[in-house]
Amino acid sequence: MELIDINIETLTTEEKIQHIKELKKERNAVILAHYYQDPDIQDIADFIGDSLALSQYAQKVEQDVILFCGVNFMAETAKILNPTKKIIVPDLMAGCSLADSAPADEYKEWIDAHPNSVVVSYINTSAEVKALSDIICTSSNATKIVNSIPTDKQVLFGPDKFLGSFVKQTTNRDIILWDGACIVHQKFSEEKVKQMIAENPDAEVLAHPECPPNILKYADIIGSTTKIISRAVESEKQKFIILTEPGVIHQMQKLAPEKIYLEVPDLEGCSCNMCPFMRLNTLDKIISALENLAPEVDVQEEIRQKALLPIQKMLELS
Ligand code: 13P
Ligand code: SF4
Repeated sequence: MELIDINIETLTTEEKIQHIKELKKERNAVILAHYYQDPDIQDIADFIGDSLALSQYAQKVEQDVILFCGVNFMAETAKILNPTKKIIVPDLMAGCSLADSAPADEYKEWIDAHPNSVVVSYINTSAEVKALSDIICTSSNATKIVNSIPTDKQVLFGPDKFLGSFVKQTTNRDIILWDGACIVHQKFSEEKVKQMIAENPDAEVLAHPECPPNILKYADIIGSTTKIISRAVESEKQKFIILTEPGVIHQMQKLAPEKIYLEVPDLEGCSCNMCPFMRLNTLDKIISALENLAPEVDVQEEIRQKALLPIQKMLELS
């Protein structure tokens, strides 16, 4: 198929996928995708993972272009770790409520109000906030990162208060929390969780630590998206109640198709608790990004260098 003169809207999904493969070769690009992407995006990705695995992979990419199908903080992290590559995304509006809950100027005031503390920031933050931090963590290593800090040090943890209170419990540390939350994970209905457990007593409950404590108390396993997927595949149980964005179910169905995966409705009763930012990405926007090599995600060099240090500290400990 020729690179120019193609009307994307007239293509079938199969043709779009074929076109993306050709564009990828032409641009010497690699596609990275998070588990919360639509199934067809997960299927065309060269690498799929949770936020930690995606950063580890992005660091080593040798191709000229990384097309990042996730949200902006993930693309920024790829740029910070592999600055000579062109990082493009399908949609620049793909933000994150957690990253948005921590504007850098307010975060700095909070840090300044607690001198001599160690600042642990979740990877779901802007590059500017990372640059203000001592060490970064993800949902898969937050407990390990906090445990690496001497016990006589005060820890500040932001911006996710629910991941932070989970880490408070697992580390038994007195941690000061920023008041941020994820709009997806804070919306699960406790009533529905209770009802689903009562109706499916044979099911295992798998939850992401961004869920609030009133939801996490029902979980058999709490972990990152990778951990949730691998547990569903490895567990002896045949049925699972999934307390995270339902994008993860695609990999579960591919890896263990005989098992049953149940989505939990949100507080408004919708069984479609999808991340509105992650789901902005589409095959059409991927084609456009590869054709135009835009929109591009860049990080100002001074910020990049400062943000790199706490990310590297995390990667060394992971
Ligand atoms: P993971 O680190 O588990 O991929 O989670 C990222 C995220 O944004 C969850 O909402
Ligand atoms: Fe951010 Fe929540 Fe979406 Fe994850 S699910 S990207 S934390 S808004």
